[in-house]
Amino acid sequence: MTADDLALWTAVDAYFDDALIGGDAALEATIAATAAAGMPMIAVSPSQGKLLALLCQTVSARRVLEIGTLGGYSTIWMARALAPGGEVVTIEAAPTHAEVARRNIAAAGLANRVDIRIGAGLSVLPLIASEAGGPFDLSFIDADKANIPGYFDWAVKLSRPGSLIVVDNVTRKGAILRSDSGIADVEGVRKFRDTLATDTRVSATAIQTVGVKGYDGFILARVN
Ligand code: DHB
Ligand code: MG
Repeated sequence: MTADDLALWTAVDAYFDDALIGGDAALEATIAATAAAGMPMIAVSPSQGKLLALLCQTVSARRVLEIGTLGGYSTIWMARALAPGGEVVTIEAAPTHAEVARRNIAAAGLANRVDIRIGAGLSVLPLIASEAGGPFDLSFIDADKANIPGYFDWAVKLSRPGSLIVVDNVTRKGAILRSDSGIADVEGVRKFRDTLATDTRVSATAIQTVGVKGYDGFILARVN
């Protein structure tokens, strides 16, 4: 991916976003607050956020699980797309990130539709299961990539037949082809890919993407 590639993909994203999405004060304020807090600028793009919202609407999602809140950008997209009475349960490992997200979500007027859980995903997920917090109609896995296999297993367990699971950032800019990378994120995605091959609980596809976020990709799975 060259600088020219990224400039072109960014311009094409902007071309479509101008027509299909447009400006949004709460989302723009969320991005600004995330940057001001010095957090990584790795939230989903506007077009990806809208895809998440459309998927929520497609399954009439009332309960959504998110693993990896960051500043709450994707959380806001999904919370707005919930069926009446719905809720996003979102897990964030970093308390400082969760606080930024809490403010962003409140400023967007969505505090009553979002439950932020602070803690490591693999510690919080068993609690959610024990609270009978599921089933979730859609899960969005967007935290550390090394633990994707564990997050996905929980997401399936907390799903119902027909639930969707979206796993972000699965291409690692192509590094997933390397068996000897020594990179925990790459190894996490590779292990996930291998277990998915024989996971009869779901049907899944991997989609590579380009855009304002560069070269990336996601896996979409449907629970059987
Ligand atoms: C990374 C993580 C993300 O969730 C993302 O959307 C992009 C990049 C990363 O860790 O590099
Ligand atoms: Mg991501």
